[in-house]
Amino acid sequence: MIQRSKQDKMEGGRVAVYPGSFDPLTYGHIDIVERSLEIFDRVILAIASNSPKRSLFTVEERIDMAKKIFENTPDVIVDSFKGLLVDYVGRTNARVIIRGLRATSDFEYEYHMASMNRSLNNQLDTLFMMTSKDYFFVSSRSIKEVASLGGTVEGLVPSLIARRLKEKFKLPVPKENQIGWDD
Ligand code: PNS
Repeated sequence: MIQRSKQDKMEGGRVAVYPGSFDPLTYGHIDIVERSLEIFDRVILAIASNSPKRSLFTVEERIDMAKKIFENTPDVIVDSFKGLLVDYVGRTNARVIIRGLRATSDFEYEYHMASMNRSLNNQLDTLFMMTSKDYFFVSSRSIKEVASLGGTVEGLVPSLIARRLKEKFKLPVPKENQIGWDD
């Protein structure tokens, strides 16, 4: 739900929505946000709260981490949404949805999603941004898998996220939960 003060910030200038699960945010996502701010005045980082995907962090935890990470970047608005993305975007004054593309393997899913969103609301466009070469192999899913098995994710996620991952995995992770997150 968009609050009044947040709504004010969403108005005026060129605004884009960067939606996703962000479970958790990685430097790959942050790189996309930073490059989007070269094109747009404001970016709304919209965390999907009713995704069918199995998530490690609750939506509240993801919002909290994202707010802390972008606390010195006032042009990034952290929000969450339920339901259809196009309905959420329609309640902002953004007309552009940003998505990062890591590899050609992302393309089919992204093309399908962008086409569906366009057919639901032809006023909206999806802008794809290639992930920087430093992060093309980084996904939230692989970060969770590596962290759950005790590997280091330093340099791939902010230290706050690395700490929160460590806290989550402090207790031995049941074997069936060690892999298999959806994102
Ligand atoms: O980071 P993700 O998990 O790839 O993000 C996917 C997300 C949340 C952007 C997508 O699942 C979404 O937009 N969900 C909201 C529901 C919706 O609008 N579905 C129609 C698009 S096919």
